[in-house]
Amino acid sequence: MAPALSREQQAVFDLIEHGRDHVFVTGRAGTGKSTLLNHLAWNTEKQLVICAPTGVAALNVGGQTIHSLFRLPIGVIADHPIDQSDELKKLLNTIDTLVVDEVSMVNADLMDAIDRSLRQARKRQTPFGGVQVVLFGDPYQLAPVPGSTEERAYFADTYRSMWFFDARVWREAELKIVELVEVHRQHESEFKYMLNAVRHGMVTKQIADRLNSVGARPAPSDGVITLASRNDAVTRINQSRLVRLPGRMQTAKAEISGDFGGRNYPAEETLDLKVGAQVMFLRNDTQGQGEMRWVNGSIGTVTRIASNVHVEVEGTVHEVEPVTWERHKYSYDPATKKLSKDVVAEFTQFPLRLAWAVTIHKSQGKTYDQAIVDLGARAFSPGQTYVALSRITALDGLYLSRPLRPSDIMVDRDVERFMADAGRAPRVAQTAT
Ligand SMILES: Nc1ncnc2c1ncn2[C@@H]1O[C@H](COP(=O)(O)OP(=O)(O)OP(=O)(O)O)[C@@H](O)[C@H]1O
Ligand SMILES: [Mg+2]
Repeated sequence: MAPALSREQQAVFDLIEHGRDHVFVTGRAGTGKSTLLNHLAWNTEKQLVICAPTGVAALNVGGQTIHSLFRLPIGVIADHPIDQSDELKKLLNTIDTLVVDEVSMVNADLMDAIDRSLRQARKRQTPFGGVQVVLFGDPYQLAPVPGSTEERAYFADTYRSMWFFDARVWREAELKIVELVEVHRQHESEFKYMLNAVRHGMVTKQIADRLNSVGARPAPSDGVITLASRNDAVTRINQSRLVRLPGRMQTAKAEISGDFGGRNYPAEETLDLKVGAQVMFLRNDTQGQGEMRWVNGSIGTVTRIASNVHVEVEGTVHEVEPVTWERHKYSYDPATKKLSKDVVAEFTQFPLRLAWAVTIHKSQGKTYDQAIVDLGARAFSPGQTYVALSRITALDGLYLSRPLRPSDIMVDRDVERFMADAGRAPRVAQTAT
């Protein structure tokens, strides 16, 4: 059930609904950005399309991934030609407003590819081909994922940073920034104050001590998800939970051809499952006719293991077959500043993994009443600790696998620069909202 909009959410709705400005709706975790976006989707009079950078983020807001919406190739797009069917052109021509959720994970290249796709389909050389663009997200949360060495070299040569706000299109288009300030996910002003300090890298010893003393309790053994920074911690937790389930363990081996760059696989090489295991999907459903039966990030429970794996998702059991991933490789030539792309390997496996624990990365946008935060040896990307802690609704739902340390709190310099240029200094003193 959707909550009624607050006054500040309503004001932003009106700005989008009755204007044509490109708008960036930002604000701390839990200020209701996604909630406002959903309200917009249901209540707008405009022809509005919603997309998001990942399958999970798209599911959260009933949208499509950016790549599937625009039929874009994976990886850096640069100035490569973009293929568009007549059907896609038609679709892109009907849009008044394009909404992007979790825009913090969209990189500058993808932002520019959206611009170029819309100009091309609509045959108009104005930013986004005349479409109003509305972006939702919090750049103090997760950053765009840096790609291969070649991709990073491309970004370094081409853009001031990887962030969407450094895309070329913003030299021609103005982006209006509006900030929601009232936090709805948490209600305790003390916890909100502490989360905001984490967001801005302004954690005092007093705040750290308080978080650490609350988080130090042993966690209940059931019903608490672990949010871990590292994939290997996620694997370890899931394996130990699996071992404790009764019944026979069954194993699916991946078929691999070509070079995946060491063990850089898209799914488990050896997938161990039992009936009763909690699993997460790793790919969007591609076989279902019409509605997708699951998306990347959907959680379910294994009910039967035969030649295929049967998984119950929200009350319905689906038969899941193996799928094939293709690995593409870019080569970047610094002399010509061009990229080329080939398929270099294939990997076939069930698109499933165990899900008693998930990475912090996959928890973005989610709300949990309690969680164990496991930062491993150290948090390793800006915003990571903030995303993890801010998923939890109340301080007494926080469990820490080890005390927080100053090195766990990192703020991205490009984000600070962008927010300062936008006239938005950190708001640590004013958090009793
Ligand atoms: N106006 C409101 N009244 C009551 N509850 C609200 C309101 N807006 C949002 N919420 C609730 O607050 C929680 C967080 O909202 P939401 O997920 O939309 O925030 P967000 O800004 O998108 O957070 P994140 O940055 O973590 O993605 C949800 O449980 C949501 O139902
Ligand atoms: Mg959100």
